[in-house]
Amino acid sequence: MTDQPSRVDDRYATNERYTTLRGLRRDAERRLSQIDWNYLWCGTGDEVTLRENTDAFDRPRFDTPLFAGVANPDTSTRVLGYDLSFPAFIAPFGGGERQFHPDGHLAIGRAAEAAGIHQMVPVAAGHSLEEVAGVSNVASIFQMTFVGSEDGVLALIERAKAAGYRHICVTYSPIRQWRERMMEDRFSIRGETGPSNFGPGKSDPAALHELLDFKQPRWTWEQAARVIRQSPLPCIVKGIAGVADAGKAMEAGAIGLYVSNYGGRTIDRVPATLDILPKVRKAVGGNVPIILDSGVRRGSDIALAIALGANAVALGRLIALGLAADGQDGVHRTLELLKREFWTTLGHLGCSHVRELGLHVIAEGARTTAAASSSE
Ligand SMILES: Cc1cc2nc3c(=O)[nH]c(=O)nc-3n(C[C@H](O)[C@H](O)[C@H](O)COP(=O)(O)O)c2cc1C
Repeated sequence: MTDQPSRVDDRYATNERYTTLRGLRRDAERRLSQIDWNYLWCGTGDEVTLRENTDAFDRPRFDTPLFAGVANPDTSTRVLGYDLSFPAFIAPFGGGERQFHPDGHLAIGRAAEAAGIHQMVPVAAGHSLEEVAGVSNVASIFQMTFVGSEDGVLALIERAKAAGYRHICVTYSPIRQWRERMMEDRFSIRGETGPSNFGPGKSDPAALHELLDFKQPRWTWEQAARVIRQSPLPCIVKGIAGVADAGKAMEAGAIGLYVSNYGGRTIDRVPATLDILPKVRKAVGGNVPIILDSGVRRGSDIALAIALGANAVALGRLIALGLAADGQDGVHRTLELLKREFWTTLGHLGCSHVRELGLHVIAEGARTTAAASSSE
């Protein structure tokens, strides 16, 4: 017999085009023009917060118990009433996402559905909210910036409800951001790939101007609370960066919090989200759903965020990279790799389910730091 010896270890054999998230990032960078890459990756100012968001995930260390590994941990969870195959949402990023791939949020929605998670769809998306809702059952949360007239905002929320969205992600933009890569590139979005929710038969284009140009007086918490209370859909508030705003959002009627600094794209030199998460969790107690984004780059980051107090993360640039690398397939592969790395992290930590993640999985030094920050 001349039989070939069978392979003993097939763990790393795969026919998949992308074996790691690194490969997806490399392809995205290769495919995009330098200008589009800068738009995708940029932060504001010196990009200190952009870097610190990921540095914060590099600091804590896991405490892995011996003889406690779990063979096949359950990565699924339920957040805001959504069943998720792992604790993640697609973050609402938009405005120029069709420059990464023409199918933009249509591709993202289809990939998210196949991967078993839900999608937040931005008001500035390059496809209309109805188009995005039409291609999957997971376009569930509509991101709405609170600017312009209260009636205009409520009308758009009504429109989102009619299209099947179930929650509103409230955001607020005080003034234009200082993004130097885009300034140096004299960046602008090409005509047909820009925001698509406004115009004839859709919403008033004046609202789009206000979204981009910041001319009218900015909103107060009182106004935001009035609209949240009148909103026909329950609201979560994005951009929570500290305990004070967490409290104000809850007082205003939010049913969940979204801890975010927009990936360092709004203002520089604000704290990393992972660093403030334990304080926010402590302040609002265990029952308020908390989503966190900004700096999540791999499956073990998701475990850290959950251990430190989040119920789920949201994925921004990672999804943009997947989209730019290979459209719907690239986003799907990104989600699959994240979920698998999260799965192996859970197992090594001795957790058979997401709900077993907690401060006890963080090694002593880092745990003390997190506990200290939650008791400040
Ligand atoms: C290209 C791009 C466009 C974005 N557009 C929006 C937007 O329209 N609305 C919004 O709420 N957040 C927007 N964001 C922020 C993301 O929703 C998310 O908060 C951020 O990407 C998280 O940080 P991370 O990319 O480091 O994970 C955008 C982010 C990127 C990268």
